[in-house]
Amino acid sequence: MNEILSFNHVTFSYTPEEPDARNAVEDVSFAINKGEWIAIVGHNGSGKSTMAKLMSGLLLPQQGEVRIKHNILTEENLWEIRSQIGIVFQNPDNQFVGATVQDDVAFSLENNGVPHKEMVQRVQEALQQVKMEAFINHEPHHLSGGQKQRVAIAGALAMHPQILILDEATSMLDPQGREEVLTLVETLRKEIDLTVLAITHDLEEALLADRIIFMNDGKKYEEGTPAEIFSLGDKLLQFGLDMPFAMKMTKLLQAQGVQLVGQHMTEEELVNDLWTSNFNK
Ligand SMILES: Nc1ncnc2c1ncn2[C@@H]1O[C@H](COP(=O)(O)OP(=O)(O)OP(=O)(O)O)[C@@H](O)[C@H]1O
Ligand SMILES: [Mg+2]
Repeated sequence: MNEILSFNHVTFSYTPEEPDARNAVEDVSFAINKGEWIAIVGHNGSGKSTMAKLMSGLLLPQQGEVRIKHNILTEENLWEIRSQIGIVFQNPDNQFVGATVQDDVAFSLENNGVPHKEMVQRVQEALQQVKMEAFINHEPHHLSGGQKQRVAIAGALAMHPQILILDEATSMLDPQGREEVLTLVETLRKEIDLTVLAITHDLEEALLADRIIFMNDGKKYEEGTPAEIFSLGDKLLQFGLDMPFAMKMTKLLQAQGVQLVGQHMTEEELVNDLWTSNFNK
């Protein structure tokens, strides 16, 4: 397998000097392959954003190692490695640094000393990738939430990252904006072989991932395919997570004596099962 990012027994505390220091991330290990879409889920304060910061070199662990393409992240190689990782946060309004869409996408390129001609080219290319080229001279505050997040993604893409981290990047968007951003990410993943790490509270979004890492209280509670994670059932609720709509519906129908063959994670599966088990005879 083509490993691109891994945690090896990573522990991080924001207050390591305190005697009863609490670890925000504790002894977490996992490995991610190039081109995978990984969702990180868990209750508030379970360490997800801290993990995102450890992955992107904004924080360094006190114990264990973070590896990007097999290189251990250290203070020395931080800047070089950081440029391979794009990160988009929750609030589209807090992310704008430029007066226009163009300036905003160019920001990191400019900071990294990319020559002007190449910068113009990269900004155009990135805006095309997120289908926002028509807005190149627009001011950010006239854009919708979904459009703003697409511009934020363009800013990350312009750096030509190998890994895109989305820290609740769709959580403040309306359903249409969310759909826009998720469709875009899925397309990019295929087109430019991007590896995606999406931190999310939205379980329907987590269903789109190849694998889910389930965090509880700073520790990795479980890791697996969406089917494996959602089969944990009541454990999800116990650790502050919900179940996808179709799964809750399946349980309720089964409790009412409706015959269903399995646990269904999507509405489509549930509807198909309802037809074949109950109406198609
Ligand atoms: N800058 C900080 N200084 C001190 N403690 C922090 C800081 N940021 C986070 N923490 C603590 O670290 C723990 C993990 O927080 P983190 O933000 O990583 O969780 P999270 O899973 O992203 O939560 P949420 O779902 O609310 O975004 C929490 O106990 C939090 O209070
Ligand atoms: Mg967070």
